Amino acid sequence: MDMNANIERVMLTSEQIAERVKGLAAQLDKLYEGRRPVVICILKGSVMFFADLIREMKTPMQIDFMAVSSYGKGSISSGKLQVKKDLTVNIGGKDVLIVEDIIDSGNTLYELKKMLNTRSPASVNIVTLLDKPERREVPMEPEYKGFVIEDEFVVGYGLDYAEDYRNLPYIGVLKRSVYEEK
Ligand code: IMP
Ligand code: MG
Repeated sequence: MDMNANIERVMLTSEQIAERVKGLAAQLDKLYEGRRPVVICILKGSVMFFADLIREMKTPMQIDFMAVSSYGKGSISSGKLQVKKDLTVNIGGKDVLIVEDIIDSGNTLYELKKMLNTRSPASVNIVTLLDKPERREVPMEPEYKGFVIEDEFVVGYGLDYAEDYRNLPYIGVLKRSVYEEK
């Protein structure tokens, strides 16, 4: 499969992403000055963003990983969160930064934030690389975001379609023909 051939257009080049990541890292360094947050990578989509972001940050931190999925509207278990891999760090009394790839309906982070808050962290902030506000089903406003994008299905830089395309170095709009039956 030729990944590049299935991309309609490049939305964000690796250079554009890198520049924005630097800006976000500087903002987050300011926010966490004098503190030592637990920075959480939401697997798998956030892995590239997370790795680049934390290397641009000068704040001392702990890192941890979590894998979750949510059942959105229309499913029987609406709004419920499935934790596939939990944290190993105890976040009680700690400042928590959640690093997400993209916020779409908002269900995943809405439920995740609620769940993490039951563990009594000192604070919870969210940074997302991409935000699709048009698609929101629940109130979820990330404190920090890289880019606000239109309602288009994007892949690359960690984001997948059926587990493919995560290793593309840029973010591109997937051709509709790839996921629509002809
Ligand atoms: P939400 O709960 O609807 O906000 O879901 C967010 C999750 O949906 C993300 O972590 C992605 O895994 C997935 N997602 C939403 N939009 C896209 C997209 O355009 N490309 C790839 N994955 C997406
Ligand atoms: Mg995902």
